[in-house]
Amino acid sequence: VNGEWEQANQASVSIFDHGLLYGDGVFDSLMAQYGYIHKLDAHLDRFERSAKAIHLELPVTKKQLHDLVLECLQRNELDDAAYIKVIGTRGITKEPLLDPRGAKPTVIVFARPYLHWAAPEKVAAGLSAKLTSVRRVPFSAIDPRVKSLNYLNNILARIEAQRAGCDEALIVDDQGFVGEGPGFNVFVVRSGTVVTPEQGVLEGITRETVLELCDELGLPVRRGPVAPYDYAVAEEAFITSTAGGIMPITSVDGHKVGSGTLGPITRRLREAFDKLLRSGKGGTPIRQKAAVRS
Ligand SMILES: Cc1ncc(COP(=O)(O)O)c(C=O)c1O
Repeated sequence: VNGEWEQANQASVSIFDHGLLYGDGVFDSLMAQYGYIHKLDAHLDRFERSAKAIHLELPVTKKQLHDLVLECLQRNELDDAAYIKVIGTRGITKEPLLDPRGAKPTVIVFARPYLHWAAPEKVAAGLSAKLTSVRRVPFSAIDPRVKSLNYLNNILARIEAQRAGCDEALIVDDQGFVGEGPGFNVFVVRSGTVVTPEQGVLEGITRETVLELCDELGLPVRRGPVAPYDYAVAEEAFITSTAGGIMPITSVDGHKVGSGTLGPITRRLREAFDKLLRSGKGGTPIRQKAAVRS
């Protein structure tokens, strides 16, 4: 926290921190897998872009963040199946009011052994999803490319999905299109083409990797709108995130997607993604000294 290393149960921030008071901050989530952090630079670039977009001047450089992330993993002796979070908040102001002027930002980096997003066997078998009545915050209100601490909309969608007995939520925007879910990007497979929304979504790093893998595997891709209709007629559907990887969605609102089981394209992408992570290609090794750049 702000350059000091503390035990997780002792690390704390002020009750006057704008991150807590107003959700005024940004974050990024990373994973350590097989000794590497995949696309570390891309995560840190996105973190910096998010901060810039909310006019938050981070008191650390990208190089310092890079080294902090590696040092955090090394100190915790974690190099596989670990979850890392980098958080920047507006910090503390003179008075705990909305006025952000004169704020001293807070920077937090933590790493911990990974708790699974959903049980791996369950993920492999396929997740059920609900199209929620909770609507997405419009693009014009908060740009979804900002990975901000304002996740209430996502949490409410998740609560709705869980109450309906579903594993995950698919959040529809005010025009009726499915943008993303609480913490993941969405894909459907239609007539063999992999389709994912083009805009109005977080620039997901796993999404980007999936699009690269589609290219490598010769799978046709279309970036365009995804509607509830597409889930009704799709052969396959899946969601992607750093914390969960590529996760099949096999039913939506109680209706099967395609055959209702893990489909061949999702399977191929999952295998190719795992192979890529294991290879270390595009990854920063964790065990090297923090000063060594990827
Ligand atoms: C709203 C949202 N969309 C998509 C994603 C997936 O992005 P990534 O693959 O970079 O983890 C996340 C990740 O946390 C997210 O919060």
